[in-house]
Amino acid sequence: MTWLHDKTEELLTRVNEVKEKRAFPFFRPFENIGSRVRVGRGSYINFTSNDYLGLSQSPKLIKPSQAGTAAYGTGLGSARLQAHSVRHELLEQRLATWLGYEACCNLTTGYQALVGFLSSYLDDDVTVVLDRLNHASIIDGVLLAKGQHPDLEIRFFKHNRMKSLRKVLKTAEHSKKMVVVEGLYSVDGDFGKLDDIVQVCREEGAVLVVDDAHGLGTLGPTGRGVPEMYGVERDVDVLIGTFSKSFGTIGGFVVADQSIIDYMKLTARAFMFSASLPIGLVEAALAALDIIEEDRTLQHRLEDNAKFFREGLVDLGFDLGDSHTHITPIFINDEEKAMTFAAYLYHGAGVIMMPFISPGVPAGTERLRCNVTAAHTRAEMGYTLEALAEVGRQLDIIPGAKKTNFSSMQKAMWLAEHKLRGLKSGGIPFLVDEIGDAAERIQRWRTTR
Ligand SMILES: Cc1ncc(COP(=O)(O)O)c(C=O)c1O
Repeated sequence: MTWLHDKTEELLTRVNEVKEKRAFPFFRPFENIGSRVRVGRGSYINFTSNDYLGLSQSPKLIKPSQAGTAAYGTGLGSARLQAHSVRHELLEQRLATWLGYEACCNLTTGYQALVGFLSSYLDDDVTVVLDRLNHASIIDGVLLAKGQHPDLEIRFFKHNRMKSLRKVLKTAEHSKKMVVVEGLYSVDGDFGKLDDIVQVCREEGAVLVVDDAHGLGTLGPTGRGVPEMYGVERDVDVLIGTFSKSFGTIGGFVVADQSIIDYMKLTARAFMFSASLPIGLVEAALAALDIIEEDRTLQHRLEDNAKFFREGLVDLGFDLGDSHTHITPIFINDEEKAMTFAAYLYHGAGVIMMPFISPGVPAGTERLRCNVTAAHTRAEMGYTLEALAEVGRQLDIIPGAKKTNFSSMQKAMWLAEHKLRGLKSGGIPFLVDEIGDAAERIQRWRTTR
């Protein structure tokens, strides 16, 4: 035994307790991907995916991806400085043109795009100002820079509060200032108030960087994200995105002026010291961009689905915070209840939603993170609303008598469709499991936890 093993003890003891209650929500071994997933003998409706347009399953992406792999192989054997291709160049040109910037740098993940860009530009003579709710990849990029440049000043402002942002900028230690925010916040589902933020940055002389990982491809009149929604596309100095959400694949990118991108490509450690994106994935991203640019159908379906589901949740009395999007946090505000809620849904109803607890979110704001996608059917969402109503009542999260407004006939149809699709995806083992009395199974599970 080493100190490495000692270090594991506290966390893993806690995890084992949760596992004994069958409430550990991570590492479920999916046997397929989509709005309905197979796990062991069960078939589950999945609300944990960021594949918002459902593109990861589209033959329109899979076929070019296969052709790209056949042409170039499964990996390029090096980082972009060496392993560069005409297809990477095309992808970068297309992304820059689509978003109205001069140039683009493609990296292997969105995480690397943020870490790479931030660590390239944050020096000892810069103050970086972050929204308190910014994603881990932004924090990690800043911390990497801080390790190399100890005089870099790191400041935070209250989420979306302009008074707080302005105060921080006015009292910044350095005259070179950079503000980093998200477009659509990944855990709260609300928007960075980009119109106001642009204004404050302009007045206080700060550069603005926006990570719109969740908004690009899903929001804005032509899918160009939250900057387009607010009409401030020309005022965002640097925009960062990922292919791991609406693009249905993997990879990240930064768009900005040509000189900014040229410098980044020669200084960003996450770009220079990590293997380049395989061509199969470059082709998938290009095909996704074709769809996102030309066809609004999936974006509209996503909007309709999100509206239907959100309205159902609000009718039931759930607290969704400031979310008005497909990222629909269901606030529980209690760690034990959030974990229990997710476990009841999984074991009792065949629905997967991810409980978010501290330190992932501030203590007291525990929630289920629930992502609606264009791939969800009405039946999946309607059935899930019934399940949420039931568990919400059992755990005293919503007022006792609250019920959905759907007719009995509608509910029966949704339940039947849920069982049929479960049978189709889970096969005979699913049927055998379902023959047992569901209520009895929930009861058994509750008494053993
Ligand atoms: C806001 C935000 N930025 C960046 C990333 C990183 O993206 P990727 O999954 O491509 O590494 C994520 C991923 O969850 C995110 O939510």
